[in-house]
Amino acid sequence: MSRVITLAVIPGDGIGPEVVSEAVKVLEAVTAGSDIVVDSHYFSLGAARFLDTGDVLSDVDLEAIKQHDAILLGAVGGTPGDPRLADANIERGLLLKLRFSLDHYVNLRPSVLYRGVPSPLAEPGDVDFVVVREGTEGPYVGNGGTIRQGTQNEVANEVSVNTAYGVERVVRYAFATASARPRKKLTLVHKTNVLVFAGSLWQRIVNEVAIEFPDVAVDYLHVDAATIFLVTNPARFDVIVTDNLFGDILTDLAAAISGGIGLAASGNINPDGRFPSMFEPVHGSAPDIAGKQLADPTAAILSVALLLDHLGLAEQAARVNAAVIADIAARTGEARGTAEIGDAIARSLSRND
Ligand code: NAI
Ligand code: MG
Repeated sequence: MSRVITLAVIPGDGIGPEVVSEAVKVLEAVTAGSDIVVDSHYFSLGAARFLDTGDVLSDVDLEAIKQHDAILLGAVGGTPGDPRLADANIERGLLLKLRFSLDHYVNLRPSVLYRGVPSPLAEPGDVDFVVVREGTEGPYVGNGGTIRQGTQNEVANEVSVNTAYGVERVVRYAFATASARPRKKLTLVHKTNVLVFAGSLWQRIVNEVAIEFPDVAVDYLHVDAATIFLVTNPARFDVIVTDNLFGDILTDLAAAISGGIGLAASGNINPDGRFPSMFEPVHGSAPDIAGKQLADPTAAILSVALLLDHLGLAEQAARVNAAVIADIAARTGEARGTAEIGDAIARSLSRND
């Protein structure tokens, strides 16, 4: 009997469609000849859709997306500053709306410095860590408001929301992740000395959950110190668990030290499986290089590996990762087009069959 995976594909804008085609190519190559059937449905969402129709994410789209096993997203958004997109609000109205509606409470971003990849750090060491960023709370929930806007007496509030329930579920996920990795180390990153209310909640929950995971070594860093160590000694990290805002910032730094934006993959995960999880490269739609086959599809392809892992297809995920690692190690510095890279990785997977 075959296993059907229903996949909602959102190619998006700019280089999104280019990198997504390669990711889908690799997904097809790794499942070819097996009993896994990928049934993809394409959704046209993003800046182009907004310019066409004036809407960003309709309830009908959202309901349709919910019916799938997983989501693969390229990138959405137009050229920054484009006046026609001033009211599009794609970040909140599309990306954050998907994350919140689908309860993606784990934002998972692995950071691995693969052999053959230059790092901007002189001596990066053995970089292999994963950031588990909370995805549904913190200062990103839209709990705020403004009065007297545009006057000298303007007041603007943006309240960080942290619930025991929300913190515990992401902390538990991070401990389970650490426990399954060879080094079994978890670092809580926060700012408990200044953000004392939220910080105390996070620290207490980490302490409590730690009792259930005696095999995991627990560490704590203030977020400012964490930025120092990410540059001076990134090899010290294994699993980082942190809130929505700190995680957003730290993961860009993490991507930068481990080979850059063309390689950074991510998963917006609903571990309970109530809703589909969404996998995407960390980069945006890169309007500056769109349509020229200049984009590196590796981040999108590594996102497919995260997707396979999430669906319980660990063997297929490992094969995609291995194919990417081999491809990266063989890079000579000579420029290859987006499809050339995708083809090479897909071909090596077919050969392994
Ligand atoms: P960006 O990530 O699109 O581009 C930053 C720089 O990195 C550019 O020079 C670009 O050419 C380069 N770059 C990005 N991906 C690359 C790849 N795969 N291979 C080679 N080079 C790559 O960030 P930017 O310019 O700030 O944003 C452009 C648009 O993307 C905006 O509308 C922004 O809102 C949107 N965006 C969307 C995201 C998403 O869909 N999750 C995430 C980040 C930005
Ligand atoms: Mg970000």
